[in-house]
Amino acid sequence: MNFSIGHEVSLVYIGKARNLEASFYKDKKNQEFSKGINNGNLISSYGIGDYRLPSILIKNGDGSYCSSFSFHSYKEMEGDYEIKGLPSSHGKGKTLVFSFIDNDNEIKAEVFVSSFSDCSCFSSSVKITNNSGEKITIERLSSLQIDFPFGEDEVYSFDGCWAKERMKHKTLLKGGRLEVDSFTGSSSAFHNPAVVIKNKAGYFGINLIYSGEHKTSIETDGYMRTRVQTGINDFMFSFDLLPGESFHSPEACLFQGESVDEISSSSHEFIKKHILPPFWAGKPAPIVFNSWEGVYFDFDGPLLLKMARKAKELGGELFVVDDGWFGKRDNEFSSLGDWTDYEKKTGGIGKLADEIRGLGLKFGIWMEPEMISQESSIYVSHPEYALVIPGKKPIKQRNQLYMDLTRKEVRDYVVFSVGNVLDATKASYLKWDYNRNFTDIFSASFPNREYLFRYMLGFYEVVSRIQKEHPLVLMEGCASGGARFDLGILCYFPQIWTSDNTDPRARIPIDMSTLLFYPSQTTCNHIACSPNNNSHLTSSLEDRFNTALLGNLGYELNPCLLTEKEEREVKKQTALYKKLRPFLLEADSYLLGDLPFTPLGGEIYVSKDQAEALAIFIQMRKTREKRLRLKGLNPKLNYKIGNRPKPVSGEEIMTKGIPIRELKYKVSKENTDKIGTLRVLIKSELSD
Ligand code: DGJ
Repeated sequence: MNFSIGHEVSLVYIGKARNLEASFYKDKKNQEFSKGINNGNLISSYGIGDYRLPSILIKNGDGSYCSSFSFHSYKEMEGDYEIKGLPSSHGKGKTLVFSFIDNDNEIKAEVFVSSFSDCSCFSSSVKITNNSGEKITIERLSSLQIDFPFGEDEVYSFDGCWAKERMKHKTLLKGGRLEVDSFTGSSSAFHNPAVVIKNKAGYFGINLIYSGEHKTSIETDGYMRTRVQTGINDFMFSFDLLPGESFHSPEACLFQGESVDEISSSSHEFIKKHILPPFWAGKPAPIVFNSWEGVYFDFDGPLLLKMARKAKELGGELFVVDDGWFGKRDNEFSSLGDWTDYEKKTGGIGKLADEIRGLGLKFGIWMEPEMISQESSIYVSHPEYALVIPGKKPIKQRNQLYMDLTRKEVRDYVVFSVGNVLDATKASYLKWDYNRNFTDIFSASFPNREYLFRYMLGFYEVVSRIQKEHPLVLMEGCASGGARFDLGILCYFPQIWTSDNTDPRARIPIDMSTLLFYPSQTTCNHIACSPNNNSHLTSSLEDRFNTALLGNLGYELNPCLLTEKEEREVKKQTALYKKLRPFLLEADSYLLGDLPFTPLGGEIYVSKDQAEALAIFIQMRKTREKRLRLKGLNPKLNYKIGNRPKPVSGEEIMTKGIPIRELKYKVSKENTDKIGTLRVLIKSELSD
């Protein structure tokens, strides 16, 4: 990607970032960077004759909204820079900081564009500094803007709801504006911040390192130009800046490639190398047995211990006590915020944790630290901890309210109570849940449109303090399943519970879209019981295992209820997974087919040297199509596919595909819920 700097700074070449050496074209006449009105490209503003959505909207000290930023200078930096209070990528290569000045209003805008030496990604963030003598208000600030000189884009967005997160949609945009955004206060189950744009220049993947409300807008104007912006959703956002103060936007990422697969690979690499906490990035995830779908709130200490004993016998490595172990929590109505042992029920959570460890398992615990129940002792003693509008009956979702993390005493309380639980149980793992969306936003201390951003600052402060104090505790993000699956969360939580939907057939579209941007090691897939508790559909253990292999394996059932035959099968699964795990963690992964749009598809894990691969094939419906093209192999090598005697060249496997006769997909009028899955090891002559 190259930049041209003249009256404005613009993108003049977009190519593989790996070969990036950003170059600058000085003004041809003067051989100097010339100054003038900036009208598009890296930033854009309102009131100067550009009638597209501006990336920056500022209410100036005099109440006007016109900004005329012109390019001033640029500097180069090496290494990381900090965005105060927000997570950002680590291990940056070069960063170019372009400064634009609005002389009329004495405001500076700096655009930080970073490259990464080992992965094909750019990132961008924007910092506004108020150099005037008056208060100004930022009302809109995109982290990234790209202007394409041509219109007509295909936009892939990932939209959904609870238990149906991130369904892939394609929209052809020939005119007007498409906005992919969230209004829930978080990145949301409704619209993920990850977006793919396909146009004449290729494929572009966009994502945002932020877990609050986001907005990506794609606008095609009458001149058939496309403007793409991404950043904090401006709908419920503003930020006051007093003289001398600055505001730095979250960091956005841009991936460029010639196919969706290239976007996907770049995003995976970027997340593994520059987003995940370095301590956890290369560590294998333990095989978790989680109590939730097995027993919900209905347990006691002896039952959990029995389940843990069985989990150990079956090859489990970590037992998680999910919701229901604290306060007086027998249902969803009470106790959030009372992070003390429900001793009558657990028999002593510290003792139970010791006993579980005594079995040779690690111990994990569930908490929902951002929430408070009105039926709790903490609410009785500190009603002011809850986010409400004074005098108004708050809207409750799942019978709970938010802890007001914009208040310091609340943040301290949360850090203290989570720390206490981790210390008392010596837990190795914390499942951090988040089960509602924002309503009733209010603060007496600052403008209400700042609330959601300030909440995110509070949230990030809390999780980073906990992470610093308990660096060895693996934290798993969860939000009623995958309602907060984003790069901001992944900076602290190396893995995320992908969805509460544990039915394998329904889960496949969720996994497929999730894996497009996010690598397998960030997604948690648990085998639940059959018939499934939510869908009531049956599935074989083999199909559940194969689909769970799309992410980190776990079990979400009462293992004591398995039949002897099932137990034998689960033992084989956990043993196989342990063998495969180092390979899965190291491997590159590619999506096969385009599930659920194509009947056949799946995922292939390929070792870095392309010598070995593991393919998970999935058939979703009846089809005459019996061949599937694989990806990521070396076209010049010959591969042995499963037990087939004759090796096939990588080229043939990837162009003609391989026949998948073994898929035992059966569909009948009565039973349309089946899937067929197949797991195949692929080895080249190099792997012997
Ligand atoms: C929602 C989560 O997604 C579930 O896995 C479980 O932890 C429940 N919350 C517990 O309340």
